[in-house]
Amino acid sequence: MITTPIAFVGAGPGAPDLLTIRAAEHLKKADVLIWTDSLVNPQITDLAKKSCEKIRTSSLTLENILNLLIKKAQEGKKVVRLHDGDPCLYGAISEQISGLIHAKIDFEVIPGISAYQATAANLKRELTIPGIVQTIILSRASGRTGVPKKECLERLASHRASLCLYLSARHVEEAQSVLLEHYPEETPVAISYRVSWPDQWIALVPLREMAKTSIQKKLIRTTLYLISPALEETTMRSKLYSPEHDHLFRQKQ
Ligand SMILES: C[S@@+](CC[C@H](N)C(=O)[O-])C[C@H]1O[C@@H](n2cnc3c(N)ncnc32)[C@H](O)[C@@H]1O
Repeated sequence: MITTPIAFVGAGPGAPDLLTIRAAEHLKKADVLIWTDSLVNPQITDLAKKSCEKIRTSSLTLENILNLLIKKAQEGKKVVRLHDGDPCLYGAISEQISGLIHAKIDFEVIPGISAYQATAANLKRELTIPGIVQTIILSRASGRTGVPKKECLERLASHRASLCLYLSARHVEEAQSVLLEHYPEETPVAISYRVSWPDQWIALVPLREMAKTSIQKKLIRTTLYLISPALEETTMRSKLYSPEHDHLFRQKQ
C-alpha cells in the first residue's frame, strides 16, 4: 500500500526482474519518476505508466533534485526517486532525506538488491562459510569522496573478511597492493562489471591479478570487487544442518 507522497525505491543491480514486488508497485503507480540514469537500467523505467513524467538526475544538483521532489509532492503527485541497487548504500539519499524532513514531507524507502548480492548469486556462492569467514565488509577505496581514517583499506583488509569494494575501479592498483599486505595472493577476487545487465562480465581471479585484469578490461565504472576466502572451493559444513547439532526445531540424530 502506498501512503506517502514520495518513495525512495531501490532498482536493484540492473535486470528488471530483480526488482522487489513492492518496488515494481511503486513504479507502476508513480506520476513522477526521478531516476539515477547513470546507473539504472532504462527498461525498469518502462514499468511506469505512459503519463508518468520521467526526470533524469545525472546532470542535476542536490538542490535541483530536492526542489523537484518537494514541488511535485506538494502538487499532490506520487513521486518515485529511483536509485540503483539498495538505496542505503552509496546512494546519497541521506541528504535528500534531510531536505524532506526539513520540508515536512513524508516519504518511505523501498530496499533493493545490491550489487554484492547479485554478484554472489551469479557466482553461486555463500559469503559467510562457518570456520572460514563470518563477516562481510562493504566499503570503497578512498577516492575523491574519501574514507574516514579509521575505515582505511589497511584496517578493513586486516580482518580478511568477505570484502566488497564499491566505486573502486579507478583505484584498483593501489587497492590491490594494500590488500596483498593482508590476504594471501591466491585469495579469490570476483570482478563484477554490470552484473545482471545484458553485457555483464564477471571474472574470478587470484588477488595478485585483480588490477591487471581490470586494466586489461578497461574497467572504470559499475564494477564491484568481492575479495573473499569464501569464494574458494570448500567442503566445510555448518552446524545448522549437522545431525550432531540440536536446536529449537530439531533434536540430535
Ligand atoms: C553509487 S554506487 C551505488 C551502489 C548501489 N546502491 C548498490 O547497492 O549496489 C555505484 C557502485 O555500485 C556498484 N554497482 C552498482 N551496480 C552494479 C552492477 N550492476 N554491477 C557491478 N557493480 C555495480 C559499482 O561499484 C558502482 O561503482
